[in-house]
Amino acid sequence: MPKVSDLFFKTAVVWLILGIGAGLQMAISGDHGAFPAHAHINLLGWVTSAIFGGYYALNPAKAERKIAMAHYGLYNVGLVVMLPALYLMLHGNTALEPVVAAGSLIVAAAVLLFAFVVFSSASVRSASELSPATR
Ligand code: HEM
Repeated sequence: MPKVSDLFFKTAVVWLILGIGAGLQMAISGDHGAFPAHAHINLLGWVTSAIFGGYYALNPAKAERKIAMAHYGLYNVGLVVMLPALYLMLHGNTALEPVVAAGSLIVAAAVLLFAFVVFSSASVRSASELSPATR
């Protein structure tokens, strides 16, 4: 499995554990007020990250490109800024709304990077595949 896929899956599992933790906290407390944070932790953190990891596993040539790791880094910086702030905002810390907004813009930028990866050519060869004449 490409390194970027492995990273996406490992990070996805961490988000899943946090998302389920937030779900259990709601279920046990009976206070479902933070359900949008729970839903976004699970859907952006777990489901979408796992789909990204699966895409790169199916497209190893694209996984080798620097932009794949930039996508991974930017996406997770966005999630780390957005999701805890969203959770705390829904628990009454309304001053965190700009932080949620900033994180969500970073997430959106990372998704545009992924769109670029998907629509760009797959025929990128690593240096080891290039013949000496083309190096
Ligand atoms: C042990 C695991 C989980 C528990 C205990 C749990 C618990 C909950 C609770 C209590 C709510 C609020 C329901 C409401 O007030 O209407 C909720 C909503 C939601 N959960 Fe989970 N959840 C779990 C796992 C997941 C997973 C894995 C996902 C997605 C991959 C997910 C996605 C959602 C979504 C999208 C909503 C919003 C649903 C709506 O608005 O109707 N949950 N969950």
